[in-house]
Amino acid sequence: MAIKLNVNGADQSIDSDPDTPLLYVLRNDLKLNGAKFGCGLGQCGACTVMVDGKAVLSCVTPVMLMEGRRVTTVEGLGTLDQPGPMQQAFIEEQAAQCGYCIPGMMMRAQALLQASPNADEREIRQALEVNLCRCGTHMRILRAIHRARDLMQQANNARNGSAG
Ligand code: FES
Repeated sequence: MAIKLNVNGADQSIDSDPDTPLLYVLRNDLKLNGAKFGCGLGQCGACTVMVDGKAVLSCVTPVMLMEGRRVTTVEGLGTLDQPGPMQQAFIEEQAAQCGYCIPGMMMRAQALLQASPNADEREIRQALEVNLCRCGTHMRILRAIHRARDLMQQANNARNGSAG
């Protein structure tokens, strides 16, 4: 059964068992390896992507639910040459140790900041509770998300200023 969805701005038609987890489709069919397989049970957050702007655990999300949806993975936030604000902030804060959890962290933080551009410390901590990091770089991750929020606000202000 062909399922039509949009991934990082590109329309895709996926011929797959409808029960296949979105994570497998992203990694195996579309070769987008940013989202990681951690627990496969919806308990670690390593597989987090955005679906229509909301953070979703792709390991427990059947691809059939993605018909007509817009999926964003960490690859959709920017490129090596032009990292997006979230990626730039994580690089500047050197927030990764082993790095395995980081794409999921970035996607959950991105969804939060798109919905709540002024999210404070409490909101950030609350939103990120779902995502686990075994290396214990939580403080650097939190700093990176604060930095990303500030970078996004600056970009918005610049856009609004130039539009006015
Ligand atoms: Fe999906 Fe752990 S791999 S939550």
